Amino acid sequence: MSYTRKHLATVEGYVPGEQPAEGGFIKLNTNENPYPPSPRVFEAIQQVTPERMRKYPDPLYRRLSAKIAQVYGVKQEQVFIGNGSDEVLSLLVRTFVDPDEKVVYTYPSYVLYETLARLNAVGCEAVELDENFDLPKRAFSAGGKLLFVGNPNNPTGRGIPADTMGRLCRSFPGLVATDEAYADFSNSSCVSLLRDCQNLMILRTFSKSFSLASIRVGFALAREELVADLMRMKDSYNVNLLSQLAAEAALSDLEHMRANVLKIVRTRTLLISGLAALGFVVYPSESNFVLAKYPNGSARPLYEELKRRKILVRYFPLRRLEDCLRITVGTDGEVDALLKELRDILKK
Ligand SMILES: Cc1ncc(COP(=O)(O)O)c(C=O)c1O
Repeated sequence: MSYTRKHLATVEGYVPGEQPAEGGFIKLNTNENPYPPSPRVFEAIQQVTPERMRKYPDPLYRRLSAKIAQVYGVKQEQVFIGNGSDEVLSLLVRTFVDPDEKVVYTYPSYVLYETLARLNAVGCEAVELDENFDLPKRAFSAGGKLLFVGNPNNPTGRGIPADTMGRLCRSFPGLVATDEAYADFSNSSCVSLLRDCQNLMILRTFSKSFSLASIRVGFALAREELVADLMRMKDSYNVNLLSQLAAEAALSDLEHMRANVLKIVRTRTLLISGLAALGFVVYPSESNFVLAKYPNGSARPLYEELKRRKILVRYFPLRRLEDCLRITVGTDGEVDALLKELRDILKK
């Protein structure tokens, strides 16, 4: 007998990319950064004394929010921090959407948006991206309480220019959460729109460009009242001390992050041309991953064979994505190894 709440029985869970149980894999499936974080992160963590460890962290994470505010040019009261941006996404639904209201998200996009709507038993509606995975006209007439838009979008890699996002904020009647998890790999960010768009919330993470997926820190930038609402909903100590210190240290070394981003963007070009030479249709990417369409049908066998050869990429058994692989941009060496195996599998 199941004790699960009734509406949860039909929720398809969000399945993140697999973690290999043993080593020896080249891991290009969850968009981690292939380069280490700033050495300052380790220095900061090593400063922690046993006495400090014994106590709870600052529930208002004041040092970190002050640093984020300084780096992104907003007021400290406009910063909300979570245990990864996944927690922030979850809190957005729980804080702002009532059961008779609706979450809207573009499709295909980050699967968690839909899962969160279903988990919270609120309405949900997908706005289908056009044939090039760009925002369709229909997005500008959508209604709902909360709109999720990836910018750049996962898994398509496409970015949305800030002026288009501004138009979207003006047309949407509810809140617009733009998920900028990959924004450091692109040229567009909507931080400058915060002043004029009262319904805009920008989500960022330390998991990608800052190479800190393990510390679980993500944040939202938004109008002060919206941040205050989120603060009332969060667990008291949702960001642990080591993570607060690590994130603060990472922000004090933006040069390190930017140098890593530059390397990844260069390798992205190699990956795209290598895949195109093998016959894949590769969508333009403003992220640290690319979406590659296999012209000969389902990409599942390719994904399986790469896994057998100890290379993990992401395959989505989902409409419009069955013939695609999403491949994280690794180091040059990792990308070379991937292309070599693909050449061998495809006999090219
Ligand atoms: C679009 C998008 N948003 C959010 C996240 C989650 O990031 P975090 O590690 O901060 O929870 C991911 C992770 O892959 C993502 O792709």
